Amino acid sequence: MVGFALFGAGRIGALHAANIAASRPRARLACVYDTNADAAAAIAARHDARVAASVEAALADPDVDAVLIASSTSTHVELITAAAHAGKAILCEKPIDLDISRVERCRSAIAGSGVALQLGFNRRYDRSHRAVRDAVRAGQIGALEQLIITSRDPGPPPLPYLAVSGGIFRDMTIHDFDLARFILGDDPVTQLYASGSIMVEPRLRELDDVDTAMVVMRTGSGALVHINNSRRAVYGYDQRVEAFGAAGMVQSDNLRASTLTRSDAQATDVREPLLNFFTERYRQAYLDELGEFIDVVEGHRQPTAGFEDGRCALILANAAGESLRSGNSVQVRFD
Ligand SMILES: NC(=O)c1ccc[n+]([C@@H]2O[C@H](COP(=O)([O-])OP(=O)(O)OC[C@H]3O[C@@H](n4cnc5c(N)ncnc54)[C@H](O)[C@@H]3O)[C@@H](O)[C@H]2O)c1
Repeated sequence: MVGFALFGAGRIGALHAANIAASRPRARLACVYDTNADAAAAIAARHDARVAASVEAALADPDVDAVLIASSTSTHVELITAAAHAGKAILCEKPIDLDISRVERCRSAIAGSGVALQLGFNRRYDRSHRAVRDAVRAGQIGALEQLIITSRDPGPPPLPYLAVSGGIFRDMTIHDFDLARFILGDDPVTQLYASGSIMVEPRLRELDDVDTAMVVMRTGSGALVHINNSRRAVYGYDQRVEAFGAAGMVQSDNLRASTLTRSDAQATDVREPLLNFFTERYRQAYLDELGEFIDVVEGHRQPTAGFEDGRCALILANAAGESLRSGNSVQVRFD
């Protein structure tokens, strides 16, 4: 049984804690650490775990084989480094950090530690998105020519969250950059153009951020990728992927609570609303992500998303920021 220390008992930490608890007998939550002791205590009590007094105490706990880092983004590099030096396997939430030079330094600091590190790019584990990737990689649509990713949130997060989020590309689009890389495989992005507007939250002007964005990328083979994001879709969490190729097209659609359709005197084929936001839409994906990580800790496989994927997604996010500011397309290099 893999014993977990959870760092960060906030929104996503609570979800991961519940998933670890649900993974018994393969895993159990041994301890929780959060700088907010009340938050840690609440999750520990819910799942019969201990509250750790410090990061060091959690890493020294003999019941801890692996750490799940779900704390604020600015703490990830420090916690990854400490866990790697303690020889613990790591599942870390995205992004690794907002600053690429800190990510590079972290890479050097943990090189040679030999610990497994999986990054929490949960969309790779969505069964429909993964089926798109599998179809593309199996050649079912011939050579890939266009990849279109639509990712729209139901509503913007609170302003204090946005203020430290790193901007739409590093906070939100980073998932889509990673999903694009996952589907593209060994056909890297070489060029990127991004545009953005404030259409939803006027106060973003003070933060030099946007809430509505489009990115167009070109790969080495000439395939074109389009990502579109909005912080507000009034009809719910809109998550769709379409891959178009020489021999056909595959799509991953939104999910609903059921496949019910209703027809009456006013309308026909009325469907259920979309599953609202990430904790519902990606519920199974988070479970599958954790299941893969437990396999990794047990030595059965390598992680699907690792440190390098986090680094490359951040490089794309930074390129999008640069393109937005300059109004020009940007050449992308991953070295
Ligand atoms: N993969 C996803 O779908 C997804 C979804 C949401 C958030 N995230 C990522 O997860 C991370 C947390 O996001 P959230 O929405 O849960 O934030 P949150 O603010 O709800 O929770 C963060 C928690 O970290 C704690 N914390 C701060 N510093 C700490 C430290 N040094 N040690 C331990 N705990 C510390 C805070 O007290 C807080 O309880 C972010 O990096 C975010 O980008 C990923």
